[in-house]
Amino acid sequence: MNRVCVIGWPVGHSRSPVVHRYWLKQYRLDGTYEKEAVRPEELEDFLGSLATKGYAGANVTLPHKEAALRAAESADQAAVTIGAANTLWLDPDGTLHASNTDSYGFMASLAQEVPDWNRDRRQVMVLGAGGAARAIVYGLIAGGTAKILMANRTREPAEALARNFGPAVEVVDWDDRHKALAACGLLVNATSLGLKGKPPLDLDLKLLPADAVVADIVYSPLETPLLAAAMARGNRTVDGLGMLLHQAVPGFERWFGVRPEVTPDLRAHVAATLEAE
Ligand code: ATR
Repeated sequence: MNRVCVIGWPVGHSRSPVVHRYWLKQYRLDGTYEKEAVRPEELEDFLGSLATKGYAGANVTLPHKEAALRAAESADQAAVTIGAANTLWLDPDGTLHASNTDSYGFMASLAQEVPDWNRDRRQVMVLGAGGAARAIVYGLIAGGTAKILMANRTREPAEALARNFGPAVEVVDWDDRHKALAACGLLVNATSLGLKGKPPLDLDLKLLPADAVVADIVYSPLETPLLAAAMARGNRTVDGLGMLLHQAVPGFERWFGVRPEVTPDLRAHVAATLEAE
């Protein structure tokens, strides 16, 4: 039986157990998915003794994603380029491998919910320049997006991200974010604005093309003020829950040997736990 856990500090809010336990039950697999609250100063030791603790692998959430990448003995291209890992597994010989599946999760969610989102191959606007934005930019560039406009409240993280990813990323001043929407086919909120308890994202959608897609990484609430405003003017929208569910797929397959499906029933199951908060 394979045992897997999610490691965070704190870890109580993590939705990963809900997702993986749903699939373990659905596919009638003999495995467990647990929560481990690990302090930052104890992460390295914890990962060094994963096998001793009986774990085959783990998800890693805040604030451990960068440290997990450093602790792993090998890492895939996505994790190295993004500079963070969210999925770990042990080889039979004990080697710790790291991957970042957030970019896959974002792209797979878009592809499932708006399959033709990139039909016209227009430029994309990304708001935010933190870890989530890095994963999204990695996924977009790997998927062939040639031009990404990035605006962040403070300019330097966006500049750093642009240096990292090359000429496809063009930094736009935070104050210019409204007018930069004019020729975009996709708008992504990769900031934490709109999250329950935080202010909404202040963005005027007037210049956004009517056929553009609006995606939000925030999934609590599922319908953020940004998505509500986008829907009200007829734009197609993708909420943050899809990214959360799809990023779990490669890890589950790796640990338990079955590639799981993201179904409407799984979405409803996880959405119900969000509403219960
Ligand atoms: P993550 O790694 O999950 O993306 P993060 O690194 O904390 O989280 O990034 C959060 C993003 O939300 C950042 O782009 C942040 O902008 P700054 O780099 O200027 O801090 C953005 N953000 C958070 N609060 C904000 C606010 N009130 N207005 C505008 N942007 C905000």
